[in-house]
Amino acid sequence: MSLPSVDIRRQPRRMGETARRDAWWLKPGLTFLGFSAFIVYSTWAAFQNADYQLGNYLSPFYSPLIFGDGPHAWIEGQPEWWPALLPFSPALFILWAPGGFRFTCYYYRGAYYKSFWADPPSCAVGEWRKKFLGENSIPLILQNLHRYFLYVALLFLLILAHDAWKAMWFMGDDGVEHFGVGIGTIVLSMNVVMLSGYTLGCHSLRHLVGGVLDAFSKSPARKKAYDCVSCLNRGHQRWAWGSLFWVGFTDLYVRLCAQGTWTDWRLF
Ligand code: FES
Repeated sequence: MSLPSVDIRRQPRRMGETARRDAWWLKPGLTFLGFSAFIVYSTWAAFQNADYQLGNYLSPFYSPLIFGDGPHAWIEGQPEWWPALLPFSPALFILWAPGGFRFTCYYYRGAYYKSFWADPPSCAVGEWRKKFLGENSIPLILQNLHRYFLYVALLFLLILAHDAWKAMWFMGDDGVEHFGVGIGTIVLSMNVVMLSGYTLGCHSLRHLVGGVLDAFSKSPARKKAYDCVSCLNRGHQRWAWGSLFWVGFTDLYVRLCAQGTWTDWRLF
C-alpha cells in the first residue's frame, strides 16, 4: 500500500513573500522608528556641547566629562590638538563606548538586522539575500567585540553610579553641600538602575560568570551569579528599550533644567 505524500521542498521566496497572516511588519517597523528617533536625538545632543550639566547633575551623554568646563571636568577646556575644522564636543570622546556596546548587543543585532537591513525582514518572510553569510567575515565578525565593549560598559556603570551619588548633594546658602533629593536625583539614579538591568543581563556576562572552557563552572558562587544574570537576561529586550529611553530622557531632563525650561524640584 502506498502512503499519500506531500511535497515539502523549500520554495525560494521573493522579498517580503510569506505565508504569515499576522502583522509581521509591525515590530520591525516600530523598532525602526524607535532606533531612528534615538539616533537622531543622541547625535543632536552629542554635538550641542552645551547645557549638559546643572550643579551636580551631569548628562549621561557627557559622562565621564574627560575634557570640558565646570566642576565635572577631568581636564579643563578643549584639547589643543583638536582639529579646528571639527566641531568639538566632550560627548564625542565617550559615546563610542555605550554606542558600540549596544550596536554589538545580541538582542539589538537581531532587531536592527530585521528593521534596518530587512535581512531577513522577519521570521519566515522572504529576504533579498539568497545566501546566508553569518557573522564569520568582515565586517560582521567585528560583532564579536561585544565582550570587550561589555568591560567598558561595566566601568561606565560605576561612573554613572558615582554621578547619581553626586546628584544627591546640593549647595546650601552656607556655601557647603548638603544631602538632598531632587527630581533630577531620581532621574539620574533611575538611569543607573535601568542601565544596570540592561548591562548585567548581557549574554556575554552569562558566559563570563557561569562558564569555564566548554563547561559550566562548578563554583556555587559562579552558579548563583549565572542564575542572577540569566534572570535579568530573560527580560533583556525590555531592559534594552527601557534603558535606551531613559538614558535619552535623562539627557533631556538635565538639558531642559540647565536651559531654565524645566525647574528641578527639590523633595528635601
Ligand atoms: Fe545585549 Fe550583551 S547581549 S548587552
